[in-house]
Amino acid sequence: SLVRHYKFSVVLKNTTRLCATKPIVTVNGKFPGPTLLAREDDNVIVRVVNHVQYNVTIHWHGVRQLRTGWADGPAYITQCPIQPGQSYIYNFTITGQRGTLLWHAHISWLRTTVHGAIVILPKLGVPYPFPKPDKEKTIVLGEITGEWWKADTEAVVNQAMQTGLAPNISDSHTINGHPGPFPNCSSQGEPRIVDFDTSFDLLLPSTGYTLHVETGKTYLLRIINAAVNEELFFKIAGHNVTIVEVDATYTKPFKTDIVFVAPGQTTNALLTADQSTGKYLIAISPFMDTVVAVDNMTATGTLRYKTTEAFSPTVLTTIPPQNATPVTNAFIDSLRSLNSIQFPTKVPLKIDHSLFFTVGLGINPCATCVNGSRAVGDINNVTFVMPTTALLQAHYYNISGIFTDDFPGNPPIPFNYTGNPPSNLKTMNGTKVYRLAFNSTVQVVVQGTAFLAPESHPVHLHGFNFFAIGKGVGNFDPVNDPEKFNLVDPVERNTIGVPTGGWTAIRFKADNPGVWFLHCHLEVHTTWGLKMAFLVDNGKGPNESILPPPNDLPIC
Ligand code: C2O
Repeated sequence: SLVRHYKFSVVLKNTTRLCATKPIVTVNGKFPGPTLLAREDDNVIVRVVNHVQYNVTIHWHGVRQLRTGWADGPAYITQCPIQPGQSYIYNFTITGQRGTLLWHAHISWLRTTVHGAIVILPKLGVPYPFPKPDKEKTIVLGEITGEWWKADTEAVVNQAMQTGLAPNISDSHTINGHPGPFPNCSSQGEPRIVDFDTSFDLLLPSTGYTLHVETGKTYLLRIINAAVNEELFFKIAGHNVTIVEVDATYTKPFKTDIVFVAPGQTTNALLTADQSTGKYLIAISPFMDTVVAVDNMTATGTLRYKTTEAFSPTVLTTIPPQNATPVTNAFIDSLRSLNSIQFPTKVPLKIDHSLFFTVGLGINPCATCVNGSRAVGDINNVTFVMPTTALLQAHYYNISGIFTDDFPGNPPIPFNYTGNPPSNLKTMNGTKVYRLAFNSTVQVVVQGTAFLAPESHPVHLHGFNFFAIGKGVGNFDPVNDPEKFNLVDPVERNTIGVPTGGWTAIRFKADNPGVWFLHCHLEVHTTWGLKMAFLVDNGKGPNESILPPPNDLPIC
């Protein structure tokens, strides 16, 4: 194994998108940022230098960080922010993982522009458990919202906090940083983005990202959803793909004409260039199973065969409607872990902690807010309040008064989670963690409450992969639903969509000491408090406790 050194300079960079130029926060001047490439077992050392006027942290989303919680990155959870002019070295080893992940800023909404791919190759000499692709391509999906494009990200966050309203829709999604389609800026000034609400289900050719292919070759597409607030469909006209991996875990291969990927999730898909020539539309579009606060903006690119004549027309495609829940379900239900001899699936069968988390939105009074109240996010009726010093530091140094370890393992009162909202939508504020014994096994049934805006919540857990053993619509039934759990080959991942007015059950083993964030990966919900943390105690063995903090760990 190798030691891989990277330098991430966080700098402002004048960037032109949608016919406007403005300085955006980037890593090394790039949007999306640089790809971090490593092999399984490599030691990765990234020196992050903050040259902007904002506080910064970087999170290596999905990297297990065994015993190295100090390198995980969420601000005020595992570290204090890197202040302007300061630097911090993230030092971690990639253990037992290979595939595609992503890195992103983990403070405020900086990840809108500060994100990039993590590509982890198998150990030298170890083949993929699928036919070797001729080439690999990384495809980072993002969004550029009017808010941050025309104003500052900070202003958008403040607006979302003050009004308790979701921010306005994005101006466009992006494929590897390219929006589209939009016409020549000089001809019209204002970009025209495809809006497919009712009349538009056939998309226009694109001026954006081009994927160049050769007939007969196979490509491994590493698809990453780095968008801030949108679950996305991804489709290529005239081509199927074979899914082989999600969230850096291998899956049983399955063929599909559409990929569904939530923010924070990654999907590896094999594409065979089985046409002889031509241009084919690549389209991404948002999914939201209730059509409130629709964001119907999309982005397109082009798959182009080498032999294509310059003026040959693009083969177009249709995309599912925004609320195509059956399409997302079909995709999710097809995902199974590989469960081979080499990559066995080891679902914990005996459960030490059986937890039930309701995730959703509530309304709290707010003296400084426009309407005297605002929307909040909560888990088990607790709206998480960010501490002023990092939880991991408080835990490691035994600093009292920063958090309490009384996060409830069940919601406070039994109620009908998916029916009519209760008259009282008020939540309780707190910086609460749930304590897990080292190496204990955990099951969490995550129930979407569907109060206020019914919305699916992509829930992300730091520090672990979990098995997604079941899901359903409506209220979880503790008697009958567990009988249907898949304990044989459930997909293993780090981010899972909790369906609107439905539930998802996950299991994991708490084999990583430290403090680990769990939150909705829709940034607006995280900001509103839909988050909590697990505190996993040290083990007793010499290799089971968290390593001491690095010397340059930022202080608050
Ligand atoms: Cu991808 Cu806590 O984040």
